[in-house]
Amino acid sequence: MAHFALITGASSGIGLALAEALARRGRNLILVARQRDALESIACELSQRFSVQVLFRVCDLSQPLQVTGLLLELEQGAHRIDLLINNAGIGTSGSFVSQDWMQEQQLIELNVLALARLSHALGGIMAGQGHGQILNVASVAAFQPGPGMTNYFASKAYVLSFSEGLREDLKPYGVKVSVLCPGPTQSAFFRTARVSMKGLQDSKLMMSPEEVALITVKALDKNQAIIIPGWRNRLLTLAPRLLPRALVRVFSGKINRRFIKQS
Ligand SMILES: NC(=O)c1ccc[n+]([C@@H]2O[C@H](COP(=O)([O-])OP(=O)(O)OC[C@H]3O[C@@H](n4cnc5c(N)ncnc54)[C@H](OP(=O)(O)O)[C@@H]3O)[C@@H](O)[C@H]2O)c1
Repeated sequence: MAHFALITGASSGIGLALAEALARRGRNLILVARQRDALESIACELSQRFSVQVLFRVCDLSQPLQVTGLLLELEQGAHRIDLLINNAGIGTSGSFVSQDWMQEQQLIELNVLALARLSHALGGIMAGQGHGQILNVASVAAFQPGPGMTNYFASKAYVLSFSEGLREDLKPYGVKVSVLCPGPTQSAFFRTARVSMKGLQDSKLMMSPEEVALITVKALDKNQAIIIPGWRNRLLTLAPRLLPRALVRVFSGKINRRFIKQS
């Protein structure tokens, strides 16, 4: 049975860069996202360039019924998944109560529930096989509360804590779990989250998705628990752990509000 890495949110940004980095290493891939055209052309390009099998599944992971369909297909299919990358995620910004609830719910369904559900289903299969690896994508936002992007920061705190717990849970079964915490990375994320890149664009903090992906695949080889790409981002995550919590949440809100676009 052929082995595959399944990557969610592989149609752009960090997910696409991870797909390319893994295909370059000869990994077969299953790409998941909503945009069929993008997935189809990426699958075609990667399979031709790197002579690997690249399949794709169109799925809106914020819709639980579609996640059920995807899992049924994966469980019945002939593809053994030995690497799961839960990368798909969105951000929202602005005062939480003034935001459209459906968008906030979609964020939780995608960033939290779909990630937990895929980890549960595929992690369970991996545990049964005594082998496998899961990478969940959090953010440097996971290390502090984020007024102005409250729901997004909280979702990433969940991903960090969940992944660290799962790592210990699955250790006895031979399944490795890591969590990626990128800092600002050039992608469509900022547009979707309605966050301005002004001032960040030229910042030394800003990384390319390809840089993040390269660091990540090397860290996965070493089974690193928490992957924070770049020393500047590592420093950024240290401050909230050393400073008083009350100060951290006020600072964090001030920084976020500088970048939030007014509607
Ligand atoms: N960019 C940053 O600065 C940054 C920093 C820290 C963490 N992150 C995290 O990195 C991850 C990837 O983000 P990115 O920066 O690469 O942004 P991106 O370019 O906007 O990529 C997001 C990916 O998620 C997919 N997606 C969005 N909603 C989906 C849904 N409902 N169902 C299935 N797939 C969905 C998108 O594909 P479709 O539109 O085709 O569905 C796309 O492939 C996210 O979890 C994000 O929170 C990003």
